[in-house]
Amino acid sequence: MLLQICPLNFDVAKRAGVSEKAWGGVFGESTDQRVEKFTESVSFDHRLYAHDIDGSVAHAQMLAKVGLLSEDECQQIEQQLAQIRQQIEQGEFRYDIALEDIHMHIERALVERLGDTGRKLHTARSRNDQVSTDIRLWVRASIDRVSDLLLDLQRAFLGRCEADLDIILPGYTHMQRAQPVLAPHYWLAYCEKLERDRQRLGDCRRRANQLPLGAAAMAGTSLPIDRLDVADRLGFEGVAANSLDISSDRDFLLEFAFVLALIAEHLSGWAEEWILWATVEFDFIRLPQTFCTGSSIMPQKINPDVLELIRGKTARVVGNLQGLLVLVKGLPMAYNRDLQEDKQPIFDSFDTVSACLELAAPLVAGAELKRESIAARLDRGFLDATTFMEYLIRRGTPQRSAHHLVGQLVATAMAKNCRLSDLPLDDYRSLDESLDESVYEVLGVERAVASFQSYGSTGPEQVASQIARWRQALGAAPKNN
Ligand code: ARG
Repeated sequence: MLLQICPLNFDVAKRAGVSEKAWGGVFGESTDQRVEKFTESVSFDHRLYAHDIDGSVAHAQMLAKVGLLSEDECQQIEQQLAQIRQQIEQGEFRYDIALEDIHMHIERALVERLGDTGRKLHTARSRNDQVSTDIRLWVRASIDRVSDLLLDLQRAFLGRCEADLDIILPGYTHMQRAQPVLAPHYWLAYCEKLERDRQRLGDCRRRANQLPLGAAAMAGTSLPIDRLDVADRLGFEGVAANSLDISSDRDFLLEFAFVLALIAEHLSGWAEEWILWATVEFDFIRLPQTFCTGSSIMPQKINPDVLELIRGKTARVVGNLQGLLVLVKGLPMAYNRDLQEDKQPIFDSFDTVSACLELAAPLVAGAELKRESIAARLDRGFLDATTFMEYLIRRGTPQRSAHHLVGQLVATAMAKNCRLSDLPLDDYRSLDESLDESVYEVLGVERAVASFQSYGSTGPEQVASQIARWRQALGAAPKNN
C-alpha cells in the first residue's frame, strides 16, 4: 500500500536486517515487516532532508570545534553530506522503509561512505532533538514563504485601490444592505486581516526559532558540547533551556497550524463574498476567466471553482489543527513516538494554504468590479438612512428620537416604493416641522459616503490616507491595475 502511494525510490529487494539497524544491538529478532510499514515516516518526512543535512553540518562543525571530531573527520562528513544532498535532489537516493525515517537514511548513507567517521556524527545527539531541530527549521522557512505570499496578496488588494477609488459598494451587516463604503475601504479591510496574519506568523517564528539540539534524548549529554555555537550556525535566536521541555514541545507547530487555519478562514470569507458577488443576483464582479472553469452539461456556465475550492480547502486546514491539538493531548514528557504524527497535518496545511495564496493574488488582481451594475442599484436599501440620522443629531435631535424619526421616514418610503430623497418635504415636516429643504443636501449615497470623517471610516479623506499608509507599509507601488 505504502509502496504504491509513495513517489520515492524504495529498495524492497535489499532490506536491512535487525543487526544493521542503528538501534539493533539489543535485539535478538528481526522487526516484523508489518511493523516496519507501520512505523516508517520516510514516505513523508523525506521532505525534511535539506534541514536534516543543514542540522548535521552545524552539529559536526560544533563537534569538531569542541574536539569530539577531528577537523579532517568534520570535512569528510561535510563533503559526503553535500553529495548525499545532491543525490536526493537528483532523485538518485534509494529509500528503504526498514530505515524508518529521513534521519536514519542520511546517516546510513554517510556510514556507507565513511565507515567509522560516519558513525561519529550522532555523537551527543538523538533523533528526538534532531527531528525537533529539523521541523523547526522547516517551520521557519515555511513561515517566511507564507509571509511572502501574504504580502503578495496584500499588494494585489492595494493595487486595486487606485482604479476602484470612486466606486461605492453597498456594505452589509447580517447580509442586509447597511451603509455605503468605498471599494478601496473593502480592499484595505482584507489588507488589515492579512497583516495580522503576518504578525502572528512573526510571533510564532520567534518561538519556533529556539535550538533543541543538545537536549539529546531528553536529559542532555555528558559530552562537552557547545549549543550556542550550533544555534549561531543555524540562525536560531536562542537555545532551549530545558531538555525535557524542548523534547516534548510542539507548541510552535500548533501555533503555525493555527495561524494557517486563520489565514484559510480569512481566505474563505473573501472567497464566499466574491462567489456571491459573481452571481447574476449580485452582479458586482467579473472574475478573470482564466480562474474559472465550466460545466460539462450546462454550456453557459462560468463557475468560480477556484474560489469555491479555496473556501472548501479551509475545512482540511481547520481539521489539521484539530488533529494536532488532539495528538498532543495528554502526552507525558518527553519524546513519544506519537509526535511523528505531527508532520503530515502541518505539511498539508502549509501546502494547502500556500496553494490558495498563490492563486488568490492573481485572482484579486485580475477581477473587475462591474461599476454600472453596482451603481444602478445603489439607491436600494436606504444606505443613506444612518448618515441622515446623524445629520439630525448634529442639528440637536437626541439619537434615539432621530433614529425613530428616520425609521418612520423609511417606512413611508418603503410604502411609496421610493428613496428617502424622493419623499416630499411635507413627509419630513410632518415628523419634525423644523426640517427644511436642506435635508435634500445630505441625502443620497454619494453624499452619505462623503460625510464620513471618523478615523478608520470609509470617508474619502480617511480612505486616501489609509491607502497612502499601506503603500508605505507594503513597500511597493501597486503592481496591478
Ligand atoms: N521519525 C520520528 C519522528 O518523526 C523520529 C524518530 C524518533 N524515534 C525514536 N525512536 N526516538 O518523530
